[in-house]
Amino acid sequence: PLVHRPRLERAVLAHRGLPSRAPENTMASFLAAADAGATWIETDVDLLGDGTAVLIHDTALDRTTDRSGSIYALEAADLATIDAGSWFDPRFAGERLPLLDTFIDLLSERGLHANIELKPNEQGAARSLLLVDTVARALDALDPACQVLVSSFSQPLLMAFHERHPRYATAVLYEAGTIRPDWLSVAELCGATCIHPQDEGLSEEMVALARGAGYGVNVWTVNSAQRAAELFEWGCTGVFTDVADELLALEGPQR
Ligand code: G3P
Ligand code: MG
Repeated sequence: PLVHRPRLERAVLAHRGLPSRAPENTMASFLAAADAGATWIETDVDLLGDGTAVLIHDTALDRTTDRSGSIYALEAADLATIDAGSWFDPRFAGERLPLLDTFIDLLSERGLHANIELKPNEQGAARSLLLVDTVARALDALDPACQVLVSSFSQPLLMAFHERHPRYATAVLYEAGTIRPDWLSVAELCGATCIHPQDEGLSEEMVALARGAGYGVNVWTVNSAQRAAELFEWGCTGVFTDVADELLALEGPQR
């Protein structure tokens, strides 16, 4: 059964940390978001070739590190040689791709909540199940006071996660225009408590429908305070933003 039910209300979720001020998905970025008052942090997780769970958005190293190539060609020992900060600013030289376990420790220490996004693993069913089980095992170490929401664009991955680890709440991610008429069945099959639609094209009617069916609605990526206010007015329970510091300055203290 679902033991950990997250409660979001006008939540400002720091998308990849605070990527406007620090390199995305690094410990520096998560700390910057927490220091700015964010209580919810979003991050992306996938597995290295040796099964180590790391936080990175892309499957390629090129955009956010000083290396190129696939993360699937790496093992844990390689992480110490990869710079995930200099591309953003020399001040962040030496930032690493964080281990999921290190992130979980930070959440527990600071009493933070997290949305962990499972990246659709490109290496087949066995690796997908390994990802699902590795994330659930890591989450089991989290302080119970911290709330957690596991999301993915991959509905099969979410269903597998829910079937194997039903104690954690999930959220179904949608790119613009991809919410289908069977969304409620999908949400139920995935054990979801929330849907995570892209902002573009999202209608007030869809928000009302989901809220009426008992689902939280957390929208990505909202970098305008005015739009965030409108979405909260519609009944949205959260917004993912690259500028958590700016939105929080207007929104007030978060729980
Ligand atoms: O989880 C919300 C958002 O992060 C989904 O898109 O590509 O930024 O991971 P993406
Ligand atoms: Mg993400």
